[in-house]
Amino acid sequence: MLDLDFLFNPEQIAIVGASKSPQKIGHAILDNVVNSGYEGKIYPINPKEEEILGYKAYPSVADINESVDLAIISVPVKHTIGVAEECGKAGVKGLIVITAGFKEVGREGLKLERELTAICERYGMRMLGPNCVGVMDTHTPLNGSFATGFPNEGNISLISQSGAMLVSILDWSFEMGIGFSRFISTGNKADLTEIDLIESCAADPYTNVILCYIEDITDGKRFVEVCSEASKKKPIVILKSGISSAGAQAASSHTGALAGSNRAYEAAFRQSGVLRVDTMNDLFDLARAFSSQPIPNNSRVAVVTNAGGPGILATDAVEKYGLKMARFTKDTIDKLRNNLPHEANIYNPVDIIGDARDDRYRFALQATLEDENVDSAIVILCPAAVTEPEKTAQTIVELNKKYNNKPVMAVYIGGKALAEGKNYLSENALPSFTFPEPSISALEGMTRYNQFIKEAEPVEPAELTDTDYDTVRKTLDQVLEDRRVVLLGHEASTVMSAYGIPVSKTYLATSEEEAAEICGKLGYPVALKISSPRIAHKTDVGGVEIGLHSEKEVKRAYRKIMEQVTHFLPDAPIYGIEVQDMVDEGVEVIVGMSKDVQFGPLVVFGLGGIYVNLIEDVSFRLASALDTYDEVKQMITETKAYTMLKGYRGKKSADVNALSDTILRVARLVQDFDEITEMDINPVRVHTKGSTALDVKITIEHKE
Ligand code: ACO
Repeated sequence: MLDLDFLFNPEQIAIVGASKSPQKIGHAILDNVVNSGYEGKIYPINPKEEEILGYKAYPSVADINESVDLAIISVPVKHTIGVAEECGKAGVKGLIVITAGFKEVGREGLKLERELTAICERYGMRMLGPNCVGVMDTHTPLNGSFATGFPNEGNISLISQSGAMLVSILDWSFEMGIGFSRFISTGNKADLTEIDLIESCAADPYTNVILCYIEDITDGKRFVEVCSEASKKKPIVILKSGISSAGAQAASSHTGALAGSNRAYEAAFRQSGVLRVDTMNDLFDLARAFSSQPIPNNSRVAVVTNAGGPGILATDAVEKYGLKMARFTKDTIDKLRNNLPHEANIYNPVDIIGDARDDRYRFALQATLEDENVDSAIVILCPAAVTEPEKTAQTIVELNKKYNNKPVMAVYIGGKALAEGKNYLSENALPSFTFPEPSISALEGMTRYNQFIKEAEPVEPAELTDTDYDTVRKTLDQVLEDRRVVLLGHEASTVMSAYGIPVSKTYLATSEEEAAEICGKLGYPVALKISSPRIAHKTDVGGVEIGLHSEKEVKRAYRKIMEQVTHFLPDAPIYGIEVQDMVDEGVEVIVGMSKDVQFGPLVVFGLGGIYVNLIEDVSFRLASALDTYDEVKQMITETKAYTMLKGYRGKKSADVNALSDTILRVARLVQDFDEITEMDINPVRVHTKGSTALDVKITIEHKE
C-alpha cells in the first residue's frame, strides 16, 4: 500500500508562495499550518521575504538544505512547473498543488498538468491536486489548506473532489458538532486519486468511517479492487454526482440502453461494499450513525414513542427500507404490560403515550434494548407539557452506552422546546433527527453494511470446465476478417454452444434445397430467419417464418422470406437464411452485457421480450462479480421475473439453476473475450427443465 505519511503526517513542510499579505492564499496556508498546532518544521518559501509569521523564509526549496517531506504550492500557474522541478531536485517527497488553471481550463491547462505529472514521475514525488484546497488531519494535527477553520477532532474522513463542497461542509460541521479525522480535497486528481486516499484512510487508526463526494472515478477496476478490501475495514459512504445517461442513449442493444453509467456505478459500489447515498443529508446522517454507533447485528428495529402518528410513520419507514419491526419476547411484553399505563401500546411500536416523562422512556427503552429480538432502537419524542426532553436525552445516552452493541437513534420532533435536549444528544454524539424517516434510512445503511461484512468471506468461484475458448476465438476472428462487428445468428449460436450455453440450434442455408436438407437432419418443426449483417430487426422486414412442419413448407417459406426482404431492403447484403429448431415453451427472460468504459463488462438480467426497456425489470452486476452461483441467484431474485420463474398463477416453476448457469457462463465469456462490447440474449427461454438461448446478438470491436 502507498505510504501517504508525507501528506498526512509530514516531518517538514515548505509552503511555496507563502506571503506576508493576509489576503493571499499563501498567507492563509502558512497561518493554518502554524495555528493547527503542527509540530514539524515549517519553511515559508518567498524570494522577497526574510521572515513570515515569525518563520525564517527561504528564496526557494533548494535553499533549505534539509530534507522536506511536503511542499504546498500556491504560486501562479506559470511558476508551478519551475517550482515543482525545484522540489523534485531537492528531494521533496510530495506536493500539494493548490494552484488552479490546469486541466479544468482547457487544452493549454491540460498540457501544463501533464508536464507537472511528468516532473513528479521523474523525481518519484507524489502529488495531491492541482486545483485543490489541501488536506487537514486533526490527529497529526495539520491544516495544510486554505480553508477557513480547522475541523473538530473526530473519526470521520472526508474526501471531496469539489473544493467548494469541502469548505462548505467544514463550516457546516461546526454547527452540527461533527468531528473529523481527515479532510482531503482531491482537486484534479492528476496523480493521487480518491482510490489512493480511500486506501490510506482505511488504514488510518483515527478514521472509523470514510465519506466521499466524487464526480468521477479515475480507474474503475482499481476502485473495485481497493474498495472491496477497504470497506471490509471501514464503512465507505459515497455521494456520486454527475451521472449522465448519454452513454445509455447511444447504445444499440437493449442491454446497452438499459445499462448506462449510473447502473455501472451502482453495480461497482455494491460489489465493493460501498454505501451509496443520493443527498448530502443522507451522507451525513450515515456518517453520524457510523461514527458514534455500533453496527446493528441484524435488521430488527424497536420503536419507543410518546405519540401514535410518528410511531406509525416510523413503522412505515422500517418497511419501506426493508428492515423489520422487532417482535418482542414474551418476557419483554409482560414487563411492558406490568409497568406501562393501561392505554400504552406494549407491542412494537411501543407507545408510552403523551404524558410520558423520562422514567417511562427509561423503562421502555431499557426493556426493548434488553430484548434478544431487538437489534436497534429508535426513540421518538414529541413535546408535551410534561415531557422532559433533556433528561430523556441523558437517559438515551446513558442506555446507549450501557447496551453498547445496539445502535440507538433519537427522533426529537419539534423546535424550540426540544433544543436543549437536541444539544445534549449532539454533544454526546448520539444521532438525533427531526423526523423518523432519515433515522431509519441511516439504520438501513448500517444494516446493509453489516450484511456486506457478513458475506465478505471469500467464496471459491464456480468451476466452469467445459468452455471451448478456441472455437470462440476462431469464430470471432472470422467475423473480424470479414470486417463485420455483429455476429450472424449461426455464429452467435456457435459461440454460445462453445461456452456450454444451451442455444437453439441454428444453421446457415444458402438455398432452399440446403435449407430442406438441414431440416431433414434437424427434424421438424423449424423456424427460418434471414441472415444479413444489416438487418437487426428481422420480423419487421418479413425475415422470419416460424412453425414450419415439412420440406414443402420450408421451401415455400425460404422463397417468401427472400422475396419480402429484397422487396423491403433491396441493397442489404444477404448471407442466406438461418434454419433454427423450434424451442419448448418457458418463461422468457433477457440476459445481456454492455461494456462500461470505467468498470468493464456489466451483465444484466431481467424480464425478456420486446418490452424490456419499457418495463425495466432488471438487475445488474459487473461480470467480475458474477463468479458464484449464489451471486447469480441473488441477482435473479432482485427482479419480478423471479416471481414468474418460481411459477406465477399456478404455472409450473422454471429451472432457475439452468438459468443461473447461463448467466454465469455469459459472465465468463465476456471476460474471456475483451472484444465483445455488447451482447443480448433476448429471450432466454427458461423451461421447467433446462433453458435455451433463443435470439443471440453479439457485437464485437476490432482490437489492435
Ligand atoms: N517561489 C516562491 N514564491 C513565489 C514564487 C516562486 N516561484 N512566485 C511567486 N511567489 C510569491 C509571490 O511573490 C507572492 O508573494 P508576495 O505576496 O510576498 O508577493 C506569493 O508567492 C503568491 O504569488 P502571487 O503572484 O501573489 O499569487 P496569488 O497569491 O495572487 O495567487 C494562487 C496564487 C492562489 C495559487 C492563484 O494562482 C490561484 O491558483 N488561485 C486559485 C486557487 C484555487 O482556487 N484552487 C482550487 C481550490 S478548489 C475550490 O474550488 C475552492
